[in-house]
Amino acid sequence: MNWNAAAYQNRHSYVWQHGESLLELLKPQAGERILDLGCGPGQLTEQIAASGAAVIGLDSDPAMIAQAQTNYPDITFQVGDAANFQLSEPVDAVFSNAALHWVTQAEPAAHCIAAALKLGGRFIVEFGGKGNVQTILKALSEVSRRSLNPWYFPSLSEYATLLESAGLEVVYAHLFDRPMPLGEAGLAGWLEMFGQRFFTDLSAEAWAETVRAVEAAAPQLYQEKEWIADYRRLRVIAMKPDEELL
Ligand SMILES: C[S@@+](CC[C@H](N)C(=O)[O-])C[C@H]1O[C@@H](n2cnc3c(N)ncnc32)[C@H](O)[C@@H]1O
Repeated sequence: MNWNAAAYQNRHSYVWQHGESLLELLKPQAGERILDLGCGPGQLTEQIAASGAAVIGLDSDPAMIAQAQTNYPDITFQVGDAANFQLSEPVDAVFSNAALHWVTQAEPAAHCIAAALKLGGRFIVEFGGKGNVQTILKALSEVSRRSLNPWYFPSLSEYATLLESAGLEVVYAHLFDRPMPLGEAGLAGWLEMFGQRFFTDLSAEAWAETVRAVEAAAPQLYQEKEWIADYRRLRVIAMKPDEELL
């Protein structure tokens, strides 16, 4: 699925700005090898590199990887699919912000992540959890009269179970509301960046009409002169055990 990397970088910086607190859970150390999975244009990858860790950014979208490489020429970026990748050497940590709800093949992704980690390595992830953007999704489904479920928004127990079945040990998991001010992009900009790809059959006029109808169907998201998306995030820390647990 193609991304408009420049528009993402220019109008949706709130995504990685919120990811910065996830770096506090990662605690990257100098000398570590870390994978940033679904790295996008690389702003968080660069912050990991600033810790002195050797970081690799992986993303399935060639335009995102090209943007990341332009932004940060000294970092290694690669095109690759989270559900089908292998690293030449295992890493101390896999980090992923706001990417894995795009990966509907969650089971193979969990296996690839587990395989990429060293024994004792850690997986630090945040993405959309069950109920994420429910108001927007409901309005979009009603307005378009399509049954839409394009993202993977698992519950906490569903995702923890999936990671355990891939051989990881979940040591922390938190599902929480994070109302997200959409800034100047507004709901129309959010829909254009993240939703329009599911409506490629619509003309520009039909899409504009859909956006207007979604705005009219979800007035509760317009608060104090700003559109606020009903984000719900799932944060997880999982470890690859040093030895097989009994
Ligand atoms: C919202 S962006 C987040 C980018 C970055 N992590 C950040 O915090 O700004 C989601 C990213 O997930 C990537 N992505 C989607 N599906 C993917 C897949 N199957 N494998 C790897 N990356 C994927 C997209 O290309 C996009 O760059």
